[in-house]
Parts: sequence; structure tokens; C-alpha cells
Amino acid sequence: MKAAVAMLLSLCALAGCERTMKDMYVQPKLGPDASSPLFPDGKGSRPPPPGSVAMAAGDLAKTSGGRHGRDDVIADDAAAAASAPPTIDMALLQRGQQRYDIYCTPCHSPVGDGDGLVAQRGFPHPPSFHQARLRDASDRHMFEVVTQGYGVMPAFADRTTPRDRWAIVAYVRALQLSQDVQVERLPVDLRAGLSALPAPPRAPASRASAPSPGASDPEAN
Ligand code: HEC
Repeated sequence: MKAAVAMLLSLCALAGCERTMKDMYVQPKLGPDASSPLFPDGKGSRPPPPGSVAMAAGDLAKTSGGRHGRDDVIADDAAAAASAPPTIDMALLQRGQQRYDIYCTPCHSPVGDGDGLVAQRGFPHPPSFHQARLRDASDRHMFEVVTQGYGVMPAFADRTTPRDRWAIVAYVRALQLSQDVQVERLPVDLRAGLSALPAPPRAPASRASAPSPGASDPEAN
């Protein structure tokens, strides 16, 4: 009983603390472009001090995160991006895997099903790479998505070189193949190993759309 009272009291204290913090969020402030009698020019926003450099321009452009600096970077990379993708070899794939793990896994997940930790915690779920539309999408489309962002997905042009973006695209292709490849396209030694594997368990109805290796149902995804 004593413990329950103590818990109740501490809960109330916590709730009080939460309210105090909220009070600090809600306070008088001037939004961008709001007017204010405080300053002689009547504007709430102050002009940037002489010599300030916008984040989207100059030397800072490639060092800032998110969408800042995107315009400059896209202009810089436009020529490189128009060039043909590099030849795919193991080194490029490994580089792509490493960059994918850094930049894409948080949302798209290590297997590319769109259930990364950031999505699990409330960010809109990205589409699975293992659906027909994205399996059929061109390499160029994927490259552009990473360069410029797509819907709520941010751009990565300020953090990845064009070559790294092609490497990431190559790795996404490898991920797609890992979930959906025709047996005839596998190297002979791998094919032999397949017959030794037990048959995959039948997916429960609620997860019927999840990619399941070897599924023969054309409606599966
Ligand atoms: C912050 C979360 C986040 C990160 C990080 C992220 N994405 Fe996305 N991605 C999304 C979301 C959300 C969508 C769906 C956007 C929409 O439809 O509005 C998406 C969509 C896509 C699409 C599908 C575009 C289409 O045609 O539907 C591709 C391809 C893609 N992302 C690739 C990548 C790659 C490659 C990386 C790593 C360089 C990456 N994404 C990093 C959240 C993210």
C-alpha cells in the first residue's frame, strides 16, 4: 500500500514537471517575417550580419546535413551524375553495402523491406524494395531518388559522391536479387545447394505480402 502511494505521488510530481516544461514551450515569440515594434525597421527578423554565409552556398554547402546546401551540390554533381554508372565489381558492391548501412538502413532496414528503426518509431514507412514497381524501376530512377530525395525522404547529394550513389544502387539491386531471383540465374554450385534446403514454411495470411524467397505465387508481392 505504502509503495502504491509513493508511486502515485511520484507520478503526480512527474506530471507537474511535464506541465512546467510545456509552459516553457508556449511563450511569446516572433515567427519568421512577423512584424515587431521592438526594432526601428518594424521587422521581427534581423538581417544577417555582414559577412555571414548562407548554409546552402559557399564552402559550407557540402558540410551541412539534411537539405541544406542541396542546390549547390546538385549543380556541382550534375555533370558527374549524367555520366554512365561505373562497372560493377565486388569492391563497388562492398562500398555500396557500407554506404547503404550508414545512410539507408535507419529507414529502409538492412533487408530493404522499409521497416527500419526510424520507421518503427514513427517516420512514414518507406516502400519495400521487394515490390514489383521498385524491382522494375531503372537504376537511374534510384540514383535520382538518392540524389534529390523523394517525397518525405531527404536528399543525400550532400553526403555521398555520385560514384557512391551508383554503388548504393548496385547494392540495392543485390538486395532485391537476394529476395527474388530465378533459380536458372543462380550459379550452378548455388543451385545444387538449394535442393538440400528444407522447403520454406508457408507464410501466415497476414504477412502474405512479405517477400518470401522461393515463393511461386505471382500475387505474393
Ligand atoms: C529518413 C528515412 C529515409 C532514409 C534515411 C532513406 N529513405 Fe528512401 N525513402 C524513405 C521514405 C519515407 C520513402 C517514401 C517517400 C514517399 O513516397 O513520399 C522512401 C523512398 C525511397 C525509394 C522509392 C522511390 C519510389 O520510386 O517510390 C527508394 C528507391 C529509396 N527510398 C532509396 C533510398 C536509399 C538508397 C537510401 C540511402 C541512400 C534511402 N532511401 C534513405 C525514407 C528514407
